[in-house]
Amino acid sequence: EKGGYDWFMRKEIYEQPQAVADTLLGRFDSDRRLTLDEIRISASELRTIDKVVIVACGTAYYAGLVAKYAIEHWTRIPCEVEIASEFRYRDPIVTSRTLVVTISQSGETADTLMAVRYAREQGAKVIAICNTNGSTIPRESDAVIYTHAGPEIGVASTKGFLTQVTACYLLGLFLAQERGTKFGDEVATVMAEMETMPAKIQEVLDGTDALLALARDLHQTESVLFLGRHAGYPVALEGALKLKEIAYLHAEGFPAGELKHGPIALVEEGIPVFVVVPPQGRDQLHDKVISNIQEVRARGAHTIVLAEEGDEEVRPYADRLISLPRASTLLQPLLATVPLQIFACEVATLLGHDVDQPRNLAKSVTVE
Ligand code: F6R
Repeated sequence: EKGGYDWFMRKEIYEQPQAVADTLLGRFDSDRRLTLDEIRISASELRTIDKVVIVACGTAYYAGLVAKYAIEHWTRIPCEVEIASEFRYRDPIVTSRTLVVTISQSGETADTLMAVRYAREQGAKVIAICNTNGSTIPRESDAVIYTHAGPEIGVASTKGFLTQVTACYLLGLFLAQERGTKFGDEVATVMAEMETMPAKIQEVLDGTDALLALARDLHQTESVLFLGRHAGYPVALEGALKLKEIAYLHAEGFPAGELKHGPIALVEEGIPVFVVVPPQGRDQLHDKVISNIQEVRARGAHTIVLAEEGDEEVRPYADRLISLPRASTLLQPLLATVPLQIFACEVATLLGHDVDQPRNLAKSVTVE
């Protein structure tokens, strides 16, 4: 049932083009307006929303962090993202005008479920983004957007993450459309780009040989750092989490701009540092990240740079260069995450660990 793969995780990584395509399927009506019928919240209710709060745990939380950049940019509604176990145990500001969005692959995560109950008690509308039909979180929510990833068996979430980001983006675009924000006219353009993503994810998957060699070279390392900015920052966090959970390596993700505020002290000769480089473009983001790469490299880091194809500016600073198909800054996480998943899977395999059943972890965390 692993379909010829050694691990479910690897199979699920390779299923991502299909999973994202399935999550995007059937989202347009005949006028190419985005439809999200399952939301069951009227356009007039959606217009009263003054804050979006995303609540989730682990990888699903990182999907929420990615989504924040897109949702705020497209809707101009403030969007907070919080870890469910933190949200629950303070008194978060949630009102009937708050849209609470939970993200959970399993739909059974105890802390996320408690957050749903709390939010509904405060009169907020709750939308669940979930991969498991009939699970508890969607049942207790006002509405659900299903990610169509299919069953995810490997404990480390992969296609769960990519489809969660996809579903959050659909929601963000739908909010922009229904509320008629300035961005409303661009929804179709973003959707058109979204529809190109499955083929681009496939391209990333087709070029993994270099990653396998990289894993062979680096699997004896003790510690790995991941840097990113903007939507690339949660990608860095996710890359680090994958390595921790299945390869049991010390790994940390940082916003690249924070280096000088502490983390750069960790950089010593030979330490592998992955850097997610945003697309070359109008903003300064790209150049800022290049300076960050220079900073760590000057201190002996072995830099593994993920950048879009044709980015010649990064090349001199990359000890290893992983090319990504072109995508806008907001959609790049759907591509940049994939090599990090493969790298973690490969390192864990080389170290002889059980990739699908890492120690101390369970697929759904139904206790606090
Ligand atoms: C990491 C991982 C976990 C889950 C987290 C939330 O690879 O799988 O961090 O993302 O336990 O689980 P769900 O999405 O089922 O609520």
